[in-house]
Amino acid sequence: MNVRDIPLKELADSHYKALDEDLAALRRVNEEEGVPLILTETEGLLRLITGLTKPHKILELGTAHGYSSLFFARCLPEAEITTIERNPVMIEAARAEFAKRSESERIDLRTGDAASILDDIKAELKNADESQKYDFVFIDAAKSHYREFLESVESICTKDAIIICDNILLKGWIVEADGSAARRHRTSIKYMKQFLDYLDKREDLDVTILTGGDGLAIIRYKYE
Ligand SMILES: C[S@@+](CC[C@H](N)C(=O)[O-])C[C@H]1O[C@@H](n2cnc3c(N)ncnc32)[C@H](O)[C@@H]1O
Repeated sequence: MNVRDIPLKELADSHYKALDEDLAALRRVNEEEGVPLILTETEGLLRLITGLTKPHKILELGTAHGYSSLFFARCLPEAEITTIERNPVMIEAARAEFAKRSESERIDLRTGDAASILDDIKAELKNADESQKYDFVFIDAAKSHYREFLESVESICTKDAIIICDNILLKGWIVEADGSAARRHRTSIKYMKQFLDYLDKREDLDVTILTGGDGLAIIRYKYE
């Protein structure tokens, strides 16, 4: 099963409206070149949630060519975005896209492995007050490391932060008992299942799993 092949999703996608022509063109180029980027349904949900919550500081794990970073920057003219990418080819492409657009003044591209960059950011924000912490986190990198990423961002998030993890369904492979795709991706499947079980056990978190896009986990801290 591939959730992107389901006709109902195609119908929904056919009604997608880009934020503006520039982002529509960037999406088209990314899709034509096979560059990974948020699905249109995911974009719609991110647009709705960030529009309602108006985060000031966004942390993104996984930049690719910078589509979602630019999308966040354009949706939220006041927000600052930190985005992390480790692949040199992606980094160069993202830099080129950012250089063409003024919103990139609010985008801080950190290069390197997310785990080690998060350690740097944790050190930088060690004595930070709530206003300097991230109030929105989008985890869209290294699907086998979601638990580690979540635990790492906890100390640099505000108490009312929203954390969204993309690709929870792994294109449907997560429910595929057998088949070549399931075999090929068995490590990611194993870690994603473990991550979902881990989320179940976290009594301090409110977690909503959605099947939209490629599957999303929407996470908030429970607090009084
Ligand atoms: C799905 S793409 C990101 C798409 C982007 N958020 C968008 O919608 O335009 C995931 C990216 O995460 C990067 N990545 C994967 N593991 C990483 C890690 N451990 N640290 C930093 N970047 C990583 C990959 O190189 C890839 O470019």
